[in-house]
Amino acid sequence: MFSKRTDWKLEENAYTRALRRHRQNGRSVLDLTASNPTVCNFQYDEAAILSALRSKEALEYDPEPKGLPSARAAVIEYYRHMDPTARLDPERLILTTGTSEAYSFLFRLLCEPGDEIAIAQPSYPLFDFLATIQDVKLRPFRLVYDHGWQIDFHGLQKAIGARTRAILLVHPNNPTGNFIGADEAEELQAICREHNLALVVDEVFLDYKIRGANSRRKRHGSFVSVNHALTFVLSGLSKIAALPQMKVGWIAASGPDELVRDAMARLEIISDTYLSLSAPLQHALPALLGQRGKMQRQLIDRIEVNLAELDEQLARQNLVSRLEIEGGWYAVLRVPAVQSDEELSIRLLEEHSVLVQPGHFYEFADEGYLVVSSLTPADQFAEGIRRLLACVAGK
Ligand SMILES: Cc1ncc(COP(=O)(O)O)c(C=O)c1O
Repeated sequence: MFSKRTDWKLEENAYTRALRRHRQNGRSVLDLTASNPTVCNFQYDEAAILSALRSKEALEYDPEPKGLPSARAAVIEYYRHMDPTARLDPERLILTTGTSEAYSFLFRLLCEPGDEIAIAQPSYPLFDFLATIQDVKLRPFRLVYDHGWQIDFHGLQKAIGARTRAILLVHPNNPTGNFIGADEAEELQAICREHNLALVVDEVFLDYKIRGANSRRKRHGSFVSVNHALTFVLSGLSKIAALPQMKVGWIAASGPDELVRDAMARLEIISDTYLSLSAPLQHALPALLGQRGKMQRQLIDRIEVNLAELDEQLARQNLVSRLEIEGGWYAVLRVPAVQSDEELSIRLLEEHSVLVQPGHFYEFADEGYLVVSSLTPADQFAEGIRRLLACVAGK
């Protein structure tokens, strides 16, 4: 009765089974995967957020497929603040219900059923589902860790086939935390032009740069006003303003004028078909974006405190190390690959009540990687890392 695309294996894997058992037994857990900022002890400006949602104008329904002009102006202002020289145009912007919807619009815009998107791995696990639901196939290419993360361009060229329509990257990436380098950005655009591909860049973590991070290459800034290839930047309130529950995202298009114009006309019709972003949220968007500075400062402080604690604990042993990170909300730990990452994660949960994510969730090429969230409340993070190191050391 059902479509093949929804033929998902719905059985629990060993890790989710272990977590369910742990919770059913009423055992507490030190959750080092906590990355929902609304429950990580941050101080939100409640009054500003709630009053933004009470706008009287929201009583009127006056839909605009790209998003209300006042809401789009606020997003343009966000980018102008980042780069006053950027070439920005509200007509090249379309608001969506979160970035996930933005992906579905783009996949619909670019792909026939069975077409492919080349995607960097390791990366955000939801891409698999977002693509399958839209009948799109992912063609992975690797990010390699060699003196920091970098794109394997040889692998990328091999991943591009006759049905490839776009290259997709996260900037900075989840969970590896690397930004696309300025030199890599040039090469990506050249490849897109050569093969007639769009470039899709997910910038939800762009504002979370780790101060003093060891970076070997010049980083590219936002891709919001590039010239050479048709480019779609995705972002939204979920990370920028630490408000995932608001479900406000956007697509900003740039590149050769004619292509952008054509893309926007088509996207506008896709959006007009659903008109899914609610009026109260669009009216609230300027105020919700306006409080991002306060939130970002708190999150970056937390991330830096946790990374300093992690480094201090790592310096006292030599079995576990962390990979370099330039930005984002996660840290990747290199652990001895003497068992699968899943086995180690289950052991950490069952024997030490610590929850981490095994690297294979993110399609790391090998075993030996665990991912932890650096948004975890600091005392919980410190104790969790202590137990993790003890577990790996066999204590
Ligand atoms: C790379 C990346 N993009 C998008 C999202 C989710 O964005 P949204 O809540 O706007 O759908 C996430 C969430 O973790 C993410 O890691």
